[in-house]
Formats: sequence, structure tokens, C-alpha cells
Amino acid sequence: MTRLLDGKTALITGAAGGFGAECARLFHRNGAKVTIADIATGKAGALAEELGDGAKNYRLDVSDQQNFQACIDATVEAFGRLDILVNNAAKILPGLAVNQTEEADFDAFVSINLKGTYNGMKLAYPHLKKSTGCVLNISSMSGVVGQANHAIYAATKGGINALTKATAVDWGHDGIRVNALCPLAMWTDGLRAWLDEQVDPQAMVRYLDSLSSLNYTPEAEEVAGSAVYLCSDLAKFVTGVVLPVSGGGEVGYKISG
Ligand SMILES: NC(=O)c1ccc[n+]([C@@H]2O[C@H](COP(=O)([O-])OP(=O)(O)OC[C@H]3O[C@@H](n4cnc5c(N)ncnc54)[C@H](O)[C@@H]3O)[C@@H](O)[C@H]2O)c1
Repeated sequence: MTRLLDGKTALITGAAGGFGAECARLFHRNGAKVTIADIATGKAGALAEELGDGAKNYRLDVSDQQNFQACIDATVEAFGRLDILVNNAAKILPGLAVNQTEEADFDAFVSINLKGTYNGMKLAYPHLKKSTGCVLNISSMSGVVGQANHAIYAATKGGINALTKATAVDWGHDGIRVNALCPLAMWTDGLRAWLDEQVDPQAMVRYLDSLSSLNYTPEAEEVAGSAVYLCSDLAKFVTGVVLPVSGGGEVGYKISG
């Protein structure tokens, strides 16, 4: 098997479970050394053990700059370099419309999703400049097209998309690529927790399946391949892209049946 990330070191936030964990597995299988950075220490440690050599876990709250700096320092100390930052950690729930929220909800979503992404990018910059590395921000189609009952979440993802494009322009001079990946829905612990909040979860599963042109909801592992691509040298001339990995969910007017 061709290993697309041989010689590279990746720091992946929110990698203890869900999509981040599938990225950690696939990045590691492709030759990358990985830091599994997550607030959930038990699950992060278990995944580092599962992957073995070339994987370490670190307790990280992305909203805390000092903690993020220490995590980056620990990664560079352990593996000697940092080539790839994947900003994946996110607050997804509760799902609320603006009129249902309090100021504290706004602050909580923004501090993890948008500020957490900013923290990682700002603090990883000197290392990415040295390695001419890349950033991959895990965004969402809800930041592109909107989503019912998720206004602040969607706003943070829209902000991440703008941050991605603007920083791709700024850091192009340093040879650092900055891209975003937008899933529609994919099977993770996060999606299962979201389903538990829905009035009729089974009907919602059918609805989710019908959203994509491919008519199903993928496993997180199927989406992680696009993350490997964007972080590999195969994508060496790709920057500033906000890539839907959505099964064509945003294209065309559908006819049911
Ligand atoms: N699953 C989907 O259908 C879907 C769709 C679109 C976008 N996304 C995006 O994909 C990414 C991963 O989502 P998921 O479904 O795997 O979620 P998940 O809830 O399964 O996993 C999120 C991980 O982030 C960690 N985390 C939460 N807050 C943190 C913090 N402050 N610091 C560090 N780690 C923290 C959690 O412990 C968890 O391990 C998110 O950015 C999400 O917005 C997911």
C-alpha cells in the first residue's frame, strides 16, 4: 500500500472518538505520527494504545490557548516536527434556534469551534512554516447552506470557512496550505447523540439518508479518506478550498422516489 503521509507528523484535535479518531487511524495507517488531542483523556489514551508506535495522546481543551501551546510543544518534543494540524474538535449540541439561546450558549459554541480553530492555527504557525505544512479545518455543510435549529453551530462553521480562505491567502507566501472539509452527516458518536435529541430518530435516519445524492449516510471512515488526501502531497497545489464531502447533498433539485 502507498503510504501518503510517510515522514509527516499530525496533531488532530477531538481525536478520541468520532471523525477525529477515524482520521487518527487512517493518518497513522498512512505513515503519519499522530497526536490524539482531546478533552476525553480515557478514550484518547485507549486509541493511542491501539495505534502503538508513532501515536501519543494529550489532554487538550482547544478553547484554552496555554493548553494548546503545551500540546503543540509536546508533539514537537515527541516527534521532532509538526506538518499537519487537523482542527476537528467541536461542540455540536444542544441544537437551538437563535431565539432559544442565551449569551452563554453563543460563547460556548464560539470558544470551542471558532476560537479553538483559531488557537490551533495561530500557535501551530511557526512549526507549519518550518515544515511547509498544512491545516485542515473540519467544518460542516451547515456552515455553507445553514441548518435548522443549529444557528450558532452553523455560524461557527461559516466562520471557520472564512478563516480558512483568508488564512490560505495570508500563508500561501509561507507555503502553508489551509483547507476545510465539510461533511453533511456521517456516523459518529456525535451524530448518534444528535439523533437522541430528535423527536423521531428513525424517521430522521431516513431523512439523512435521503439528503445526499448517493442516498446513504457514510461511516466516518469513508469521509476520512478525503482528509488524508487534503493533508497529503497529492493535494500540494490545493489551498483555500472548502470541500463538501457530502455525497452531493447540496447539488440539484431532487425528485423523490
Ligand atoms: N458527524 C457528523 O454528522 C458531522 C457532520 C458535519 C460536521 N461534523 C464535524 O466533524 C467534526 C467531528 O464531529 P463528530 O461527529 O466526530 O463529533 P464527536 O462528538 O463524535 O467527537 C468530537 C470529539 O471532540 C472532543 N471535544 C469536544 N470538545 C473539545 C474541546 N473543547 N477540546 C478538545 N476536544 C474536544 C470530544 O471529546 C470528542 O472526542 C466536528 O467538527 C463536527 O462539527 C460532523
